[in-house]
Amino acid sequence: MIDALAASPPKPSGVIRRADYRAPDWLVSDIALDFDLDPAATQVRATLIVTRNGAHDAPLRLDGDGLTPLSVKVDGIDTPYTMEGGTLVIAVPGDAHEIETRVEIAPAANTQLMGLYASGGNLCTQCEAEGFRRITFFPDRPDVLSKYRVRMTADKARFPVLLANGDPIASGDAADGRHWAEWHDPFPKPSYLFALVAGDLAANTATFTTMSGRQVTLGIWVREKDLPKTDHALHALKLSMAWDEQVYGREYDLDVFNIVAVDDFNFGAMENKGLNIFNSRYILADPDTATDYDYDAVAAVVAHEYFHNWSGNRVTCRDWFQLSLKEGFTVYRDQGFSADQGSAAVKRIEDVRGLRAAQFPEDAGPLAHPVRPDEYVEISNFYTATIYNKGAEVIRMMATILGPQKFRAGTDRYFDRFDGTAATCEDFVACMEEASGVDLTQFRLWYSQAGTPRVTASLEHEAGSGRARLDLRQSVPPTPGQPNKAPMVLPLRIKLFGAETAQPIAEEQLVLLSDGDAQLTFDGVTERPVLSINRGFSAPVIVDTNRSVADLAFLSAHDDDPFARYEAMQQLMLDTLVAAVTHGRADHASVIEAVANTLADPALDRAFVAEAVLLPSDSFIGDQLPVVDPEAIFQKREALRRDLGKALEPQWREAYEAARANRFEYSPAGKGARRLKSVSLGYVIASGAADGADLAFAQFDAADNMTDRQGGLTALVNSESDKRHAALDIFYNRYADNALVLDKWFQTQALATRDDTAAAVEALASHPDFTLANPNRARALVGAFAVNQRAFHSGEGRGYRFVADQLIALDQLNPQTAAKLVPPLGRWKRFDAARAARMRSELERILATPGLSKDMTEQVSKSLE
Ligand code: PHE
Ligand code: ZN
Repeated sequence: MIDALAASPPKPSGVIRRADYRAPDWLVSDIALDFDLDPAATQVRATLIVTRNGAHDAPLRLDGDGLTPLSVKVDGIDTPYTMEGGTLVIAVPGDAHEIETRVEIAPAANTQLMGLYASGGNLCTQCEAEGFRRITFFPDRPDVLSKYRVRMTADKARFPVLLANGDPIASGDAADGRHWAEWHDPFPKPSYLFALVAGDLAANTATFTTMSGRQVTLGIWVREKDLPKTDHALHALKLSMAWDEQVYGREYDLDVFNIVAVDDFNFGAMENKGLNIFNSRYILADPDTATDYDYDAVAAVVAHEYFHNWSGNRVTCRDWFQLSLKEGFTVYRDQGFSADQGSAAVKRIEDVRGLRAAQFPEDAGPLAHPVRPDEYVEISNFYTATIYNKGAEVIRMMATILGPQKFRAGTDRYFDRFDGTAATCEDFVACMEEASGVDLTQFRLWYSQAGTPRVTASLEHEAGSGRARLDLRQSVPPTPGQPNKAPMVLPLRIKLFGAETAQPIAEEQLVLLSDGDAQLTFDGVTERPVLSINRGFSAPVIVDTNRSVADLAFLSAHDDDPFARYEAMQQLMLDTLVAAVTHGRADHASVIEAVANTLADPALDRAFVAEAVLLPSDSFIGDQLPVVDPEAIFQKREALRRDLGKALEPQWREAYEAARANRFEYSPAGKGARRLKSVSLGYVIASGAADGADLAFAQFDAADNMTDRQGGLTALVNSESDKRHAALDIFYNRYADNALVLDKWFQTQALATRDDTAAAVEALASHPDFTLANPNRARALVGAFAVNQRAFHSGEGRGYRFVADQLIALDQLNPQTAAKLVPPLGRWKRFDAARAARMRSELERILATPGLSKDMTEQVSKSLE
């Protein structure tokens, strides 16, 4: 909370502004917390050492949310206080005091999963962003850094393991079958990084020796029966620790590093100092229950949270407007880690696909906001693809502009200078400038201007003079509250190839497009040049070129940048599909030829081939059109899939057979083979081949890993084959006691490309295993369905009504998770008038719900504007 606004109690409609930031009135150097833990009623006693910060006479204000003080003492003496909303206000005379408060909280009744809550019989905390104020009274803002001592007492049989941040100091038995433990974290930290866990847990442990020779005990804590599924996460943790030493020179700093997996969690995971708490889906993995995608995600999230120890914990954020300071940078770091574990090209393709699927639509819609927002109502709504993924692209661009050495010098300077403090995005950029001598004044617009820049590139060649000219023009679209934009610095990696020789005409150059338009000339160009631009996706922009089908096909075969090669194929497919949807043209020959060439190229790794031959998603095709027609997009895409399947059936079968014999192995090659196998199976089925469903069922049935099993199931569920019912039943029964795999069972059906998906999803909402109380389950059904473009928008508003009903119900339990699912309904402007009206009326119905949360109110009302 910002002090300037704290004078009046926060109103649900209260807007918090970045410009209003003021340093805290009071600092807390130390806090001792004493928990008497019990699911129904936990007592919390907090002792704070506070000091006045600056010359002022403001009272001490301690944030609280749903807390009633049982007692308030100042320097050991019961002291009067007032409550302003949830905030505890104490008039204290001097400049330094000891404050003690006591409260009682009810973790078992905490369905928001913020603060102290119960999950699967254990107790755990989630404090980012403003959950600590649901545990105790405190200045709950990231620029108040304190040393924490934590004592926990709990029933020994129910909660044999007691964990908190930092290092364990002491433990022992207490009366009545209870026991206690004390932990001490020597590193001052903001309250959002506080954590404790009490439960019946077992650990997979290991030792890591840091670069300076210190021994760190690592522990991954889960239910005893899940221990066999923790080796992959533990391995990823060790790799991450070594990688951060090698690549960023960052060493771990405590004697222990613990990770706990919990089933009920609002996000992916949380970087609490020395005690990361994870959604179990990002820890547990074994071949029978986790796909390759899951394995990759486990490693990426383990790395991400570990990397936060420096980018987030040692250097934290001054205020929540700076959220991307830690999140964008940490995503950039985890992307680099993952790229180094396997194919960097495929990783880049996946990351760009994710950016286009989530961030581009956000930037083009009603919830668009800058990487460093200027205002918010509920900070939980700003854990977005813009903060995380566009934020990572902004860091990547700086790394591209500076080059690796200067970038590393910049991060060294940043970590050294701001260690132990709460910093800003501006601090980070300033370090980059100082370390490199590069002026990033204009570059800073990436932090303040929302919207995806568009670049138009047209290349002209005069055969006679041997001169080629590239015209570049940029524009940044208006976004809510930002009607006019200035040109930005766009780092574009560009290269020309000769159409006849297929050789580069010139070396790649890094063009920094910083004006509205620019021209580049190339001399001595004796053959027709073909433009390769934004190679490696060097800038997160949309590029429109005048490249022909022939040029795109050429690049898809000859570009020496793998991302650009993939991109050329995608553009070729997109152009073909957009023409089909808008003009009814169905000229599939060029795509078929380009796909055939890619399949036949022995130099390409299988994972890359699988990505390259995959058609763009329904929603990405929709993003190219002025008005999205979900059914037409689906039909035209299916027609292209069918033609590709038929025309190249022998090649698909060959690719399928080549990968079939492999035993499961989690390796880049193994993953690539499985990926191409599933993609090929999809095309064989699309061809209409009589044995398609049998192949899918056989794969499903005989699989020795979840990637193949789910791949077979998905193919069947999307087909008309009767075998799909049997497969769904077998899958359900086999995994009935595994929540994470049941999520897949729900999700696969919610994503099905069938006519009856909406009806099936409605029925699944009444399934005994469906519950909104578990965020993973809610997302698996409701979240997945809402991004199934065809199904969600089918049936005259039936899908919208269903999602709105679910969100209204979910908001009662868990506003954060509900609010995250609003964006698909908020995209109404992209659809025809009838659909738009129906979507709007569902948003209006949600907004009219009595008692709607602040989270939902902000998301829905912005979505209606
Ligand atoms: N900070 C977490 C991360 O690593 C995300 C998170 C935010 C988790 C809020 C829980 C609550 O990205
Ligand atoms: Zn993070």
